[in-house]
Amino acid sequence: MKRVSGKITVSPDKSVSHRALMISSIARGKTIVKNFLRSDDCLSTMACLRKLGVVIKDEGDRIIVDGRGPKLAAPTETLYAGNSGTTVRLLSGILAAQNFKTKITGDGSLSARPMKRIERPLKMMGASVRTSDGKLPMEITGGNLKNIDYASEIASAQVKSCVLLAGLYADGKTTFREPMRSRDHTERMLSNFGAKITSSSDGPGFWVSVDGPAVIESPGTLEVPGDISSAAFFMVAAAILPGSRITILNVGVNPTRTGIIAILRRMGARVEISNRRESGGEPSADITVEHSDLIGIAIGADEIPLLIDELPIIAVAASQAVGATRVTGAEELRVKETDRIKSVVGELLKMGARIEELKDGFVVEGPTKLKGAAVASGGDHRMAMSLAVARLAADGETRVINSECASVSFPEFYGLLNKITAN
Ligand code: S3P
Repeated sequence: MKRVSGKITVSPDKSVSHRALMISSIARGKTIVKNFLRSDDCLSTMACLRKLGVVIKDEGDRIIVDGRGPKLAAPTETLYAGNSGTTVRLLSGILAAQNFKTKITGDGSLSARPMKRIERPLKMMGASVRTSDGKLPMEITGGNLKNIDYASEIASAQVKSCVLLAGLYADGKTTFREPMRSRDHTERMLSNFGAKITSSSDGPGFWVSVDGPAVIESPGTLEVPGDISSAAFFMVAAAILPGSRITILNVGVNPTRTGIIAILRRMGARVEISNRRESGGEPSADITVEHSDLIGIAIGADEIPLLIDELPIIAVAASQAVGATRVTGAEELRVKETDRIKSVVGELLKMGARIEELKDGFVVEGPTKLKGAAVASGGDHRMAMSLAVARLAADGETRVINSECASVSFPEFYGLLNKITAN
């Protein structure tokens, strides 16, 4: 078995990077974005915004967005969102208020993902939205929007952000309700740009409102923290590999994203948070994780939104923990970049893990000595990186087919992992 050690920084936050580009594009004034994530997904957002007439300069250590204010320019060609659900779903909220027609497509994986969840509220607000039975390609013809009070059946930051961005253009208060609070980067950033946001988590569920119509103003500079979803692969590697200790500097620790810390601690991992600070409304800190013996735990529906993207790597951690780890209430995993319940169960079984599929999650019985195998990412970046960590805990050779898709969120992943891994 290998071990990992050292002090690292991981890639900038994907969710915050997308939002930084989109929100500065529709604000008045120039925004300097520091520590922007240049991954395939965020570059898809950048390319779409440029086609909508936004001038975005990439100066290496910073991105400069020349905000156009609320109105974008009609694109002369179809927008391509690549593999990125965040690009399509958030941008749709803005496009719903533009008085022109836009067509958006994506790659094979994105074209299989559900878009009804944004089609429904945007139509209620008065936009004309056409999909192929709830899937891409999608055509949006925007217009004057009316405010809505929308209760979503699922907790989803993408749907919430879509509605809030459209709400900036509507007359009056637009409210989004969800059963549990999903990540709140959009609300935080819109507040930072001067929009009037109110929210509450009293009572069952959570709601957030934006007052429209609003013309937002650039705060000047935005600094993106490191991505806790990218840090999670290194946190789990350190937790499961004997002799490991790593510190990850400047990681975003927004409380709507830190489920992975709570879960690892509950499993018995040693996780220390230090040097807490805040920038542009987002908290960040350094995270140190050391190896220790882990135990299996139950993870239920109320925690899922706080760690939705981390469930594949949590399955890897669970394979090394004593006892059963049971994840339920996670049916949303079935509509991610792959059906992540099927992918994680199928691929970890090939490596000898004792893992069983549930309709809304999985059960892992540990610990098992993983063994080398040929496994496949299925083109899913988080599966590729989870399998790369499982490989370190396995005896023999593991080959991950289609591993290069890690570049969707974390282009430097393999270089960094190699650098901190020792025998
Ligand atoms: C994201 C929200 C989540 C998450 C995705 C990024 C975002 O999706 O899984 O990776 O940036 O808003 P859902 O809103 O579909 O839960």
